[in-house]
Amino acid sequence: MNVGTDIVSVVRVAALMDRSGAAFLQRWFTPGEVAYCVSKAVPSRHVAARLAAKEAVLKALPFAWSGPVPWRMVEIVNGGHGAPGVQLSGAVLAEAEQAGVVEISISMSHCDEYATAVALVTSSARRPTPQPARTEASQSGAPARPLEATGGAVVDRGQVEQVLTEWSGMGEADADPELAALRLAILFEDSFDVTLTDDDIDLAVLSDPDAMVRVLGRALSGA
Ligand SMILES: CC(C)(COP(=O)(O)OP(=O)(O)OC[C@H]1O[C@@H](n2cnc3c(N)ncnc32)[C@H](O)[C@@H]1OP(=O)(O)O)[C@@H](O)C(=O)NCCC(=O)NCCS
Repeated sequence: MNVGTDIVSVVRVAALMDRSGAAFLQRWFTPGEVAYCVSKAVPSRHVAARLAAKEAVLKALPFAWSGPVPWRMVEIVNGGHGAPGVQLSGAVLAEAEQAGVVEISISMSHCDEYATAVALVTSSARRPTPQPARTEASQSGAPARPLEATGGAVVDRGQVEQVLTEWSGMGEADADPELAALRLAILFEDSFDVTLTDDDIDLAVLSDPDAMVRVLGRALSGA
């Protein structure tokens, strides 16, 4: 049995929906998820909760996904009495079946500021030892270089490169720097007490992992 959890800023998601609502929703969510969220008085709370739930499920699944995560293949559905459930599809479902996943349970909660989710995955197979993110650096055999910032925080360079690789691997029409920025912000705001602004994560930074790591280092050291 594996557990995963995640927390997402509702405020940040609301801002993203204001700026690129349709593209953002279509990238991450199924039509059913979108229909549910937009039917609510404050859609951003439900959207943020589903983002958190998808991340939590990915953390709890007993395999490491390499490459861009097909987020719509991890669908959050609503069962009886409002209780949420998870419906996997496509390649994620196939991988889960191969890994012996027999049940996925989630729970979500949200307020004006944050949405959080917990996922519990039961499987018949033992979870393999997590592998480092598959990046160009690791593929070429170069060791991942962590960045140490003041206060002892260490940025996992592999995580940065993974997000940037996902972003740059998309087709030109799909490449959305705001989504990559959101992923990075969620990743690092959750891991460290740091706030990244849109100015920190601009287009130039997104094309350069070293620059991104420097930005994170500056933010972490409060410079
Ligand atoms: C369950 C309930 C108490 C949650 O209300 P809340 O604390 O104000 O809201 P939270 O932000 O903590 O949680 C909201 C999420 O709870 C989940 N939820 C709703 N009803 C649920 C239920 N019956 N069981 C489990 N989870 C539920 C949903 O995922 C919901 O988010 P979503 O609408 O985006 O899918 C409320 O929906 C309720 O009173 N429902 C009716 C009574 C009920 O079914 N209780 C179940 C326990 S006996």
